[in-house]
Amino acid sequence: MIIDFLRKMDFPVYLAPMEGVTDGAFRRICKEYGADVLISEFVSSDALSRDVEKSIRKMDFTEGERPYGVQIFGSNEAALVSAAQHAAAFHPDFIDINWGCPVKKIVSKGAGAAILQDIPKMVALTSAVVKAVDLPVTVKTRLGWESADKPIVEVAERLQDVGIQAIAIHGRTRAQQYGGEADWTLIGEVKNNPRMHIPVIGNGDINSAEKALEYQARYGVDAIMIGRAAIGNPWIFRQIKSLRSGEPCQEPDYGERVSLVMRHLRENEREKGERVAVIEMRTMYAGYFRGVFNFKPKRIKLMSATTLKECEEILHG
Ligand SMILES: Cc1cc2nc3c(=O)[nH]c(=O)nc-3n(C[C@H](O)[C@H](O)[C@H](O)COP(=O)(O)O)c2cc1C
Repeated sequence: MIIDFLRKMDFPVYLAPMEGVTDGAFRRICKEYGADVLISEFVSSDALSRDVEKSIRKMDFTEGERPYGVQIFGSNEAALVSAAQHAAAFHPDFIDINWGCPVKKIVSKGAGAAILQDIPKMVALTSAVVKAVDLPVTVKTRLGWESADKPIVEVAERLQDVGIQAIAIHGRTRAQQYGGEADWTLIGEVKNNPRMHIPVIGNGDINSAEKALEYQARYGVDAIMIGRAAIGNPWIFRQIKSLRSGEPCQEPDYGERVSLVMRHLRENEREKGERVAVIEMRTMYAGYFRGVFNFKPKRIKLMSATTLKECEEILHG
C-alpha cells in the first residue's frame, strides 16, 4: 500500500506528474537518480473510455518504477470510475486523481482544478473512485480556485474522510496558474491540522536540494514533490540525497549530460518513434545543459534536428 510505503520512507521525494514530460523514459531516469515515487502523465478518463491507444501507453510502466501511480482526470463519475478500473488493471501501486490542473481546455469541462468550485462534487467523485478500486487512491490538488477562496484545509479533511490515502498540494490557486510564488503556509496548515492523519505532500517551486530540505523542515510535510525543476534536471534528486547524507553534491559533467540525453532519446525512440522522440526532447535541452558554457549554438541546432543521429552529432560536435 502506498501509505505504508510512504510511512516507511524517511523523506520521500516525488517526481511530479507532468504531461508531455514524465513519460516512462524520463521517469526511469529520475528514479535512477533518486526520485522515490513516480506518477504517470495525466490520463483523460473520457479518452480512456474510448480506449485510445495513447492513454493506454501513458499508464504503462516497468517494475523498476515502483512505487508508481497512474493519474486520471475527468468530471463524469462513470467515466472516472471506469478509468480508475482500467488503470487498476495495470497494477500500479496507487491511483491519483488530478483535481489541480488549471488548463482551460480541462477546467472548461469541469475537470482538474474546476472541481474546486464544487467541493461536494469533488468529494462525491473521489469517493466513487475510492470505492471502485482495490488500490490506494490519492489526490493532487491546489489551494483553491482563486485568492478569495482557498478551502484546502476543509477539502483535505473531507477527502481523507472518504478514504484517500495521501494528498499532494500545489501551493497555488487555479487563478494563479503557475504565476507568482507558491504559498506553502496553507500546505503547512493542512499538515498541522490535528484531524489529518494521511501523508501530506508539498508541491510548488522547489528548485534546489537546499529548498527541498528547508521546506520539508519548515512545513513538516511528509513528502516533497518536484515538477519543473526536474525537467531536464534529474540530478536534483541525487543532490537531495547527497545533501541529506552530508556527501558532496556531484555536478554532472558534459559527458554525463550527453549520455543521459542520448539514453532518453533512444528509449523514447523505442516507445514513440524517432520523430516524436526528437521533437519532444527539444523542451528538455535547456534543463539538461543548464550552466554549460557556450551551449546555445548547439541548442539552436538541436531545435531543427529531426533524427537521433543528427542530435548525437551536434552534441558531440
Ligand atoms: C509541463 C507541465 C505539465 C504538467 N502536467 C501535469 C499533469 O499531467 N498532472 C498534474 O497533476 N500536474 C501537472 N503539472 C503540474 C505539476 O505536477 C506541478 O504541480 C507544478 O508544476 C508545480 O510544481 P513545481 O513548481 O515543482 O513545478 C504540470 C506542470 C508542467 C510544468
